Order: sequence, then structure tokens, then C-alpha cells
Amino acid sequence: MNVDQTSASPSPVSTTGDAVVQLRDVHLTLPSDAGDVNILRGISLDVGKGEAVGLVGPSGSGKSTLLMVLAGLERQSSGSVHLAGADFSKLNEDGLAKFRLAHVGIVFQSFHLIPTMTALENVAVPLELAGHPDPFGKAAEELGHVGLEHRLSHYPGQLSGGEQQRVALARAVAGDPDILLADEPTGNLDGTTGEQIIELMFDLHKRRGTTMVLITHDADLAQACDRVVRLRDGQVESIAAGTGRVLPSDELTGEEVTG
Ligand SMILES: Nc1ncnc2c1ncn2[C@@H]1O[C@H](COP(=O)(O)OP(=O)(O)OP(=O)(O)O)[C@@H](O)[C@H]1O
Ligand SMILES: [Mg+2]
Repeated sequence: MNVDQTSASPSPVSTTGDAVVQLRDVHLTLPSDAGDVNILRGISLDVGKGEAVGLVGPSGSGKSTLLMVLAGLERQSSGSVHLAGADFSKLNEDGLAKFRLAHVGIVFQSFHLIPTMTALENVAVPLELAGHPDPFGKAAEELGHVGLEHRLSHYPGQLSGGEQQRVALARAVAGDPDILLADEPTGNLDGTTGEQIIELMFDLHKRRGTTMVLITHDADLAQACDRVVRLRDGQVESIAAGTGRVLPSDELTGEEVTG
């Protein structure tokens, strides 16, 4: 059940039980020419297993930075970050990289595919690094799930924006991550293509029960998540219930994506 939490002191606790993400009083300060910048200023938040959280807020409020912290790509200056039971402060850079491969999927606005690798290789290589027994077979299967079975040997430069984002999505979910992080994944796509990517993301999230944190400037899209977390000036300004999204595919088939 969703509870509206837009009160003066929003509750950081998730609505779906077990927390996959647990942030406590996370601060991040980075140096700049004009002096230190306090980018994150005391963020506490839980994200429950299988929950979808929409992360919104004005430009510069710290959304992308918070996602980088969740991915272990940026280290907090103070406070604690736990993801899937791991305490990030206890992992070194190598440990964080390994953890990411096994537990985190990320989709960026600008796709971030490796241009010299085919679609198949872009999805297979991280699986290979993570020790998957059949990285290329699994990669082909995942690309099939996003409708790209006919584009396996294409390079990113030979794919449309929507197709590139579908490769990125296949790559992000191929390792069955505990959490899928997305930073404005439709920001570089036209409306229709963006809508298709979102349908695909929510479909994967629902079918696999993947926990999801989605940064978006689209209020409707944020509202389609289970909760909407609003940042302002590096702090959580409010946490509100979303609607959770019901997709037509929910009604069509109970079939698992992972065959
Ligand atoms: N490496 C850095 N060094 C100093 N300041 C930084 C650094 N990275 C980000 N910032 C600052 O931190 C603040 C938050 O940036 P962030 O990219 O997280 O914002 P955002 O909420 O994602 O914004 P947008 O909606 O525009 O993408 C901004 O004011 C930015 O200028
Ligand atoms: Mg951003």
C-alpha cells in the first residue's frame, strides 16, 4: 500500500518492506574553483525490493549525483550507503566495480555504449566480466527481449537512438541486477521512441521485480512510479506516493522474460 508522505518531515522508509537501498545522512562535498560545493546535504532514503522510485527536482538539485553515489561511481563524503546488503564504505574501488557488475544496472540519457563493439558485444562483455557461463547466448536472448534480434551485429553508430537505448537497457538488465538506475533515459529520444523505452523499462521492472530508481523531468512518468522523491538543493524536499504503473502487458501474459 502506498501512503502519502508529503508531510513536513518525509519518511525515508520504503513502502515495500525489505530495503535494497539504504541511505543515511549522505553528504557529498566536491571541490571547485569557487570553493567546496555541498552537492548532497544529508540524504536519508530507503528503496524497497521491487519498488520503483521516481527521482525529481530542479536542475542542479543533485539527482544525477545521487544516482552516481547509488552506483558506487561517486563516494559520499559522510553518511552511509548500503545496497543489496553491502556497505559501500567497506569496499575499495575494485570491490565497488565488482559489486556494480553483479548488482547494479545503469541506463544513461546518452546511452554510453562502446562504439567499437557490436550490440551483441556491448551486452555480452559485462556478462563475461561478471563470470556468466554463456555471455553471448544470454546477450542475444536479452537483445531479443527488447526487439533487437535482427540488429545483433550492428555497431552503435549503425543504430537509431531508440535502438541504442534498447541495447543499453538490455545491457543494464542482462545480469539480473538488484537495482536498475536510470538517468533521464528518454532525454535524447523523440516522444514516441521515449514512450517505447519507458514501456519496456516498466515491463522489465514489473516482470522481474527489479527495484528501480528513475530520474525524470516528466511529472507523469514520475507519478507512474510507486513513490516520487523530490530533491532540492541536495536534500530530500518531499516524498509522495505515486500511482504505480499498470501496463497492458500485465494483463496479457504472466510469462517470465528470463526464459
Ligand atoms: N564534479 C563536480 N564538481 C563540482 N560540482 C559539481 C560536480 N558535479 C556536479 N556538481 C554540481 O552539483 C550540483 C548537482 O548536480 P547534478 O548533476 O547532480 O544535478 P541534477 O539534479 O542531475 O541536474 P539536471 O536536472 O540538470 O541533470 C550542480 O550544482 C552541479 O553544478
Ligand atoms: Mg542530472
